[in-house]
Parts: sequence; C-alpha cells; structure tokens
Amino acid sequence: MSVSIKSAREIELMRAAGKILAKVHENLGKELKEGMSTLDIDRLGDEIIRSYGCIPSFKNYNGYPASVCVSLNEEVVHGIPTKKRLIQEGDIVSLDIGVIYKGYHSDAARTHGIGEISEEAALLIERTRQCFFEGIKYAKEGNHLHQISNAISAYAESFGYGVVRDLVGHGIGTHLHESPQIPNFSQKSRGVRLKAGMTLAIEPMINAGRFDVEWLSDDWTVVTQDHSLSAHYENTILITSGEPEILTLQEGETDGY
Ligand code: MF3
Ligand code: CO
Repeated sequence: MSVSIKSAREIELMRAAGKILAKVHENLGKELKEGMSTLDIDRLGDEIIRSYGCIPSFKNYNGYPASVCVSLNEEVVHGIPTKKRLIQEGDIVSLDIGVIYKGYHSDAARTHGIGEISEEAALLIERTRQCFFEGIKYAKEGNHLHQISNAISAYAESFGYGVVRDLVGHGIGTHLHESPQIPNFSQKSRGVRLKAGMTLAIEPMINAGRFDVEWLSDDWTVVTQDHSLSAHYENTILITSGEPEILTLQEGETDGY
C-alpha cells in the first residue's frame, strides 16, 4: 500500500484535529487523581472530546468499547476502562486517545505518574518520551522510515529497556490506521522514503524489562510478559522538507530536541 500525501486543505484539518487532541490530553491529564476509576477517566475523556465537536476515534473501532485506552503499570496499551479498577499513588497510567475532526484523525498518548512514583517509573516515562524525539530527528523528506525506528530502538536499548515488537505506529488521516506501519524496534531494511505531506503516528511502547508482551483474555489489554512496567508516548506528526511538525504537542510541552 502506498503512503498518502495530504493536500494543503487536508493538512489544515489534520492540524486542527491535532490541536484539539493536545487540549484533550492537557485537560484530562490534569484531572487524574488517586481513587478515580479507569472508567471515570474514560467518561471524562469522552466528554472533553465531544465538547470540542470531535468524535472519539477508538470507540467501537474493531469493537473496542471505550473512548480512551487506559493502561496501568505492566499494561502496555489498549487497557479497557472499568469501574472496578481504581488508580493509586505510585501507579503509572498511559492514556491513548484519538479524535476525529471533520473526517480527519489525530492520535496521541501520554504516560502519567500518580502522586509519588518510583525513580524507575519516572525514568521510564521520561526516556520513552525522549524515544519519540530521538526518532523524529530523522523524520524529514528524503530520509527513510526505518531511520526513525532504528533511532528509537537504539536509545531505548541503551538503557536495557525492551522495545515492544508486536505493536507499531502507523500512517494516519481519514483512517486511524493508514500505511505505512512504523516499527519502534531496529530494522534491516530502509523502509519507505519520507515525503512532505505524509502524516504519521509515531508511538514508542517501551518496557522496563523484556520486550515480550501478551494479550489478556479480554482480547485487548496488552501486558508485559515479565510484568515489568511499560510506558507509551505518541504524537501525530507531519513530514515537511525541514523539521517535522508535531501536530499533537501540548502547549508548554518542551519539544525534547
Ligand atoms: N494508538 C493506538 C493505535 O494507534 C490506539 C488504538 S486503540 C483502538 O493503534 F481501540 F482503537 F484500537
Ligand atoms: Co496510534
């Protein structure tokens, strides 16, 4: 499958979708408190998304039942919100959210610590975020996709972390998942040549332990096989002939270069 190049009009819509998602993350991230259930987080997220006139991308996507993926501690991604699961001091909570604005998707994830967290957890969150920025140093026209993958994995592995292999980033636009797939682990091939106008969701999923993951019996929740902590950081970006534009960066969020 070839990778779609967005027109000027489409890029404007992707920018708008990205800006809204950045606000959704900002507003929801501030509300996280000990004692909230993961379903409370989803309900609030759904409300915020709709208050911006957007539709949650994930709700009913392949049967996924919620608007926000909430993944705690050893859960890597795609945790299903439930009223039985309460967040506690020391937890790390990954929120993965997608919104549709006028037919265009944006997709971003952040991992938050609740109250005081261990140094191990704090470092994992910060380094997972930095993985994204290490990767996008190569995200410009003329480079090859797998330069991004290789940079992410080299940085993560320099700390002995496990880079998840069973899930990848993706192109994004009128569909949540478009071509190409974007692995975070090292690749032998070069991958597609990047062109201005490509919009990509780059999403390192990094484990404090080994890279192996498994699926729980709910068929969604992905957990680390060794029960080590896992963090997730994702943005939707636009490839240009110069620096990439990060469409879902929050205001005041440093750009990590
Ligand atoms: N960021 C994730 C992804 O790109 C979220 C998808 S969750 C789903 O795959 F429920 F929509 F599948
Ligand atoms: Co994604």
